[in-house]
Amino acid sequence: MTLRTNERVDRFESPFRRLDALLAGVAPNPGLTPIMMHVGEPQDAPPAVLAQAVAAHAGEWNRYPPSLGTPEFLAAAAGYLERRYPGVRGRLRRELELSAVASTREALFLAAAVAVSPTRATPLALMPNPFYQTYRVAAIMAGAEPRYLRHSGFPLFALDFSDLDSATLARTEILYLCSPSNPDGHVLPAAQLRHAIGLAREHGFLVVFDECYAELYDREPPPGALDVLAEMDGGDGWLDNALVLHSLSKRSSAAGMRSGFAVGDPRVIAALNRVRLNGTACTPLPLLAAATALWSEDTHVDAMRARLRARFDLADRFLGGCAGYYRPPCGFFLWLRVDDGATLARSLWAGSALKVLPGEFLTQPAPAGGNDGRGFVRIALVHDLDTTATGLARLAAALGIQPVNA
Ligand SMILES: Cc1ncc(COP(=O)(O)O)c(C=O)c1O
Repeated sequence: MTLRTNERVDRFESPFRRLDALLAGVAPNPGLTPIMMHVGEPQDAPPAVLAQAVAAHAGEWNRYPPSLGTPEFLAAAAGYLERRYPGVRGRLRRELELSAVASTREALFLAAAVAVSPTRATPLALMPNPFYQTYRVAAIMAGAEPRYLRHSGFPLFALDFSDLDSATLARTEILYLCSPSNPDGHVLPAAQLRHAIGLAREHGFLVVFDECYAELYDREPPPGALDVLAEMDGGDGWLDNALVLHSLSKRSSAAGMRSGFAVGDPRVIAALNRVRLNGTACTPLPLLAAATALWSEDTHVDAMRARLRARFDLADRFLGGCAGYYRPPCGFFLWLRVDDGATLARSLWAGSALKVLPGEFLTQPAPAGGNDGRGFVRIALVHDLDTTATGLARLAAALGIQPVNA
């Protein structure tokens, strides 16, 4: 008997599996230690308080964790929000508008599941391009067709909402926005966040703000959707049609914890909670205790930013002479314009034992043909300074670029 499965699953593949396929049969230069700069996984040790809290709560591994977080966790998340986003102060109704999630990826996936109505004939999910793959996967699995926002291109992929006609907006069930963005580090200006919220309210869809890179900025903290929502006011309805997601993965170098939180429209939080209470795994109690400690404290985040700045200073030095290089205002990726990203990724692995991600694995081709990501590679600045310098030196050498002031 043949097995029937959901054909939607056949429409996507992980960028990292695609990279494995691209590099299959390519051996890294045997004379060099491989350096992995393709994944956005901070290699810094997380703050010591993480392990301390886990040890202090070691007696709780036998307990089912509360899907919606502990009161302590929610208080710590709210405290962080109030420190970081002045508009939130005195406004957040914690019990209705805030919930724990097992990292932003879980919430991004579930957001489409709760936003896309099965009664809609041809629902759309809007998203940037390039984008974090979960947006597209979530849309497809929820039965919505991904539709990509126009952008203005290099050096930053600034979004352009102007071609969204009323027929498109009427079919839209969810809009994913990422600011600061992966991969290009672009920051959406407050006016654009406001415009997106206005569109969502006018047309009755949900806008999801993926802010997992909110703390990774070079000089200026990027505007947050919560401050914009607070400014637009609306009384108890201040979070209407919005869901804002934060995570410890990048902020606290704690990707392994799978811990974050969602704050937003109480109707969406209630739906998300109902699905999470009945259908998904969640963050264990010892890890929620560690997450509580991490959200309560910001000095380790300042230290993380200082490390990041030093890595970008190295990038300026090694790649400053490259026409395709720019220093992004936020995030920890270089989004480097090159001739052909896939060809370069293969030759860097073979010749320099350096693994980078071709941009086209983070973009979708345009309907008219062509793929804006093809001429890019994404390089994650997630290693210590020595490893980062070695990786960037190999890249510069492969591209034939002389380091600046070296
Ligand atoms: C834009 C973006 N959103 C979400 C995630 C998922 O992060 P988390 O570890 O919180 O699930 C990532 C991880 O790389 C990301 O780049």
